[in-house]
Amino acid sequence: MDRVKLKETKIDNLDEFNWIKYFKYNNEHLLKLNFDINTELSEEEKKLITPSIKAFQIGEGSEGKHLIKVVEKFSVKSNYNDYIEIMKWFIKEENRHSQTLKKYMEIYNIKPVKKLWIDNIFRILRKMMGLECEIIILVTAEMIALSYYTALSNATKSVLLKTICKQMLNDELKHVVLQSDTLHRISKNRNKIINKLVRKIRTIVMNITVFVVWHKYKELFIKGDYQYKKFKKHSLEYLKESINIETFGILES
Ligand SMILES: [Fe+2]
Ligand SMILES: [Fe+2]
Repeated sequence: MDRVKLKETKIDNLDEFNWIKYFKYNNEHLLKLNFDINTELSEEEKKLITPSIKAFQIGEGSEGKHLIKVVEKFSVKSNYNDYIEIMKWFIKEENRHSQTLKKYMEIYNIKPVKKLWIDNIFRILRKMMGLECEIIILVTAEMIALSYYTALSNATKSVLLKTICKQMLNDELKHVVLQSDTLHRISKNRNKIINKLVRKIRTIVMNITVFVVWHKYKELFIKGDYQYKKFKKHSLEYLKESINIETFGILES
């Protein structure tokens, strides 16, 4: 499977895109998942996917209390009335991701973790600052997830897991566009030097995350046809697409 691209979302006008309508439609048109099949994963594959799937399962789920607080503030400040409802749908979708992975793990007796240091660092960082910081961390994790779910799909023969990955990719692609659009709304009337600095920070955060995540789950990434060089290249390409939306408010054609 090659890299999915943001333009595959086919959103051509972000200003007029109805996110609430999209989330509702998506929620009613999910791929069918048959959790009764329990013979697809070999012991070898189970061992391979366990550490990373546990990490992504915990990373996907969140109550989003702090996020909603900063979203409410931004919605009022910027007259972006739909934003609270949009982000409530977004949190709902992320919790569905977490639940789906949990259900899949249960089939093969993979126990979910309650805490993970890398996830904790992300959560602490997100809560330390305002909406922009939250969104930057979120969208970085989502761009990493695009490569991860592609690698996971490549690495397994399980049809159910491949279908889960397909659904994830469909949803996360839209999330990356949504967060990038928010970053555009935050930065559009701001000093250019600050915006340039924020983009530099985003690049640094991405480079560090790529390094840590790949080395932590390298067995899975290698099996899924993601050597370090390819993972880094794809992640930086996603970042470029996201920064393009942040800067110009449009998807690269
Ligand atoms: Fe997700
Ligand atoms: Fe997401």
